[in-house]
Amino acid sequence: MSSPINNSILIVDDIPTNIKVLFDILNQNGFRVSVAKNGQSALAKAKEALPNLILLDVMMPGIDGFETCRRLKADPKTKDIPVIFMTALSDTVDKVKGLKLGAVDYITKPIEYEEILARINVHLELRRTQLKLAQEEKMSSLGQLVAGIAHEINNPVNFIYGNLIHAQNYITDLLDLLKLYETHTSDPSPEIKEFSENIELEFIKKDLPHLLSSMAMGTERVEQIVRSLRLFSRLEDIEFQPFNLHEGIDSTLIILSHRLKASPTRPIINIIKEYSDIPLVECYAGKLNQVFMNLLANAIDALEESVVNQKTTDTLTIWIRTAVTDDQKSILIEIVDNGIGISPEVQQNIFEQFFTTKPLGKGTGLGLAIAHEIIVEKHGGTLQVNSTPGQGAQFLITIPIQQVIG
Ligand SMILES: Nc1ncnc2c1ncn2[C@@H]1O[C@H](COP(=O)(O)OP(=O)(O)OP(=O)(O)O)[C@@H](O)[C@H]1O
Ligand SMILES: [Mg+2]
Repeated sequence: MSSPINNSILIVDDIPTNIKVLFDILNQNGFRVSVAKNGQSALAKAKEALPNLILLDVMMPGIDGFETCRRLKADPKTKDIPVIFMTALSDTVDKVKGLKLGAVDYITKPIEYEEILARINVHLELRRTQLKLAQEEKMSSLGQLVAGIAHEINNPVNFIYGNLIHAQNYITDLLDLLKLYETHTSDPSPEIKEFSENIELEFIKKDLPHLLSSMAMGTERVEQIVRSLRLFSRLEDIEFQPFNLHEGIDSTLIILSHRLKASPTRPIINIIKEYSDIPLVECYAGKLNQVFMNLLANAIDALEESVVNQKTTDTLTIWIRTAVTDDQKSILIEIVDNGIGISPEVQQNIFEQFFTTKPLGKGTGLGLAIAHEIIVEKHGGTLQVNSTPGQGAQFLITIPIQQVIG
């Protein structure tokens, strides 16, 4: 492993020679190293640089290693960063104390280089696995939540929808009856006349049918949303099945709709769909929804950043296009945004696991790695990126219409 991306380590030690030796060995092995000479500055640096791992000396003047660790673990921003203690003492009490405070491991001085590198790599790998599991867990609990909500909404909506048809029939009958009364009563009593005027009977007669049909339209819309939510929640698909990609994209957009609306800090995000006539695609439907989700969420992030960083005045837009490829064998899906765009260096690493330019807590750097795995490995398709920095990004997916068995 040891890809230097996101392998940043903070060394906390008060003895310059210790720092120097550690710094050199880690640096030579491709890590990005920063240094703090006491507990106080370690806390500040950890918060600011958010390293992937901290090597923490126990014996330091001022706040010692234990107290530093306790404070790191108490702060939500730094609590998940793995801490390895360095202790010159062979005292087990200290080791236990460190582990109890939330450290993942300890190293005894004098430091063995092979050992320290091995331990660092183990903990970085563990942390990565943990993040990946958390991401999977997030998707699957989102799926369950969505399925649950869809189920709960479904019953009351069916109740309204089912009864609306009867209400419509009853009201038509009542209006017809009223008409009959009117034709057979040439001169209604003043009381009836006054009442009819007060309630604006003529208006009611005209408006009631419109009102009922817009209520029917509203419930149909809710039904559609429920259907989309159910579709989206089919995350645990075990086999290939024919899937309408447009339905998948639309249901994902519904899940993300709260992020597309205008906010105090930015205008609405426009979605321009250019869907072609495409056949059903043999795929893992829930997995593909996950890809759409990751790509669209990235596009929204990029648009938001363009408002903050570039003060753009362009209409924030995401284009979604679909087409059958020239050889008729695959579907092409294009997701384009006019956000901040992607520099060539970032483009080179974009599909790497844990590569992110977003602050901790916002991005884990897994979205595109997962999308790549799903499209390329699971479906035998392709996923590519194009971008002009400052102007936007384009993601191109191709998926075979049929999976070749064998
Ligand atoms: N549409 C886009 N416009 C600009 N940059 C993008 C776009 N999509 C991805 N990127 C860049 O690629 C990086 C990796 O994206 P990826 O989705 O893998 O991770 P993330 O969005 O940072 O975190 P996560 O998706 O795990 O929450 C992003 O941090 C961002 O720098
Ligand atoms: Mg992402």
